Amino acid sequence: MISVVGIGADGWAGLGEAARAAIREADTVVGSARQLDLLPAGVAAERRCWPSPIDPLVDELAAGLPGTVCVLASGDPMLHGIGATLARRVGPDRLAVHPHPSAFSLACARLGWPAAETALVSAVGRPAEGLALALAPGRRIVAYAAGAQGAARLAALVCERGYGPSRFVVLEQLGGPAERIVESTAGAFNGTPVDPLHAVALECRAAPGTVPLSRAPGLPDGAYDSDGQLSKRAVRAVTLAALGPRPGELLWDVGAGSGSIAIEWLRVEPSARAVAIEPDPSRAARIAVNASRLGVPALEVREGRAPAALEGLEAPGAIFIGGGLTADGVLDRCWAALRPGGRLVANAVTLEGERALQAARAARGGDLLRLAVSHAEPLGSFEAWRPHLPVVQWSAVR
Ligand SMILES: C[S@@+](CC[C@H](N)C(=O)[O-])C[C@H]1O[C@@H](n2cnc3c(N)ncnc32)[C@H](O)[C@@H]1O
Repeated sequence: MISVVGIGADGWAGLGEAARAAIREADTVVGSARQLDLLPAGVAAERRCWPSPIDPLVDELAAGLPGTVCVLASGDPMLHGIGATLARRVGPDRLAVHPHPSAFSLACARLGWPAAETALVSAVGRPAEGLALALAPGRRIVAYAAGAQGAARLAALVCERGYGPSRFVVLEQLGGPAERIVESTAGAFNGTPVDPLHAVALECRAAPGTVPLSRAPGLPDGAYDSDGQLSKRAVRAVTLAALGPRPGELLWDVGAGSGSIAIEWLRVEPSARAVAIEPDPSRAARIAVNASRLGVPALEVREGRAPAALEGLEAPGAIFIGGGLTADGVLDRCWAALRPGGRLVANAVTLEGERALQAARAARGGDLLRLAVSHAEPLGSFEAWRPHLPVVQWSAVR
């Protein structure tokens, strides 16, 4: 059994009796140098500092260190903490977790924000661009940031996405004797270095001219940088409904073009994962830019042509085919790769693509849909329906 003890900036003084006992009884205590320094000299255990990266020591813990082991975590071990990592690697049954208030709870407490109505974003050990997904007028966000420049990086990102007027509160050393709370707006944040142990609280306000983006599928076409290879808004919304993202699921977006299907898949269900497969190098680069700008930097972009480029990918819960439909083996390879119960959705605009979908339906069942969307647009001094190319959509459950 490994004890995992959450410790705050108030150190030993803030620990409960059970947490103190877990530390006192340990033969080995593992933690960051900052956390180990918070322990009194009387703690007899061998102190082991996390290496960088931490993986070799996590492997040792998973294999089992001799004697009793206690791992220190900052705040709540299960909230973006080492407890969550160990639960995945060592297994929850081998952990005894002692939670401490998280920086998120402390920030909400200081600001008087209801925690259930406040979003939490971590920019520690992952790209800060994920914050963009949470930005929306009126939303309150607590963001975890790393390093003395962490707050400055977040302020720059918030301004770049059109939310410069947002209330921007830097909360340093929460719960400890050196606690300091400094308030400004993202636009007015002066960028001076802050204590590396800090979080940022944001109350979002959009700058004039900013168009807030919903997480509902069907973002405006203009939200994407594109060379025209983009499923248009209405078709995209119908496609996402057919794909039906679920927690943790993996999507293959085959022939991803501008990446819009994979991007909206991740925006709707941020715990899900997606791989965008695209042979054209400039399009592949554009997908990564769109993903990062739209708050889903975790989208994996694989440059290559299906079916060869699908080799070695984890079996997905859903597949979208927007390109490569008529290439030999793509449909069959995708169908065979799907997990049982997985959904395949494919869109075609050409007659050749449509024939491939009709054959797929004859062989495997599912639904065929024809989407003929027209837009009201000016025609001289009047308006008329301007039709888009009709899209045929096949969707089937394996
Ligand atoms: C890897 S996360 C760990 C979060 C932790 N498990 C918790 O419960 O809050 C580390 C980040 O949490 C935030 N953090 C943790 N303790 C803090 C404190 N006492 N004051 C301000 N921010 C803190 C900082 O943003 C820091 O970079």
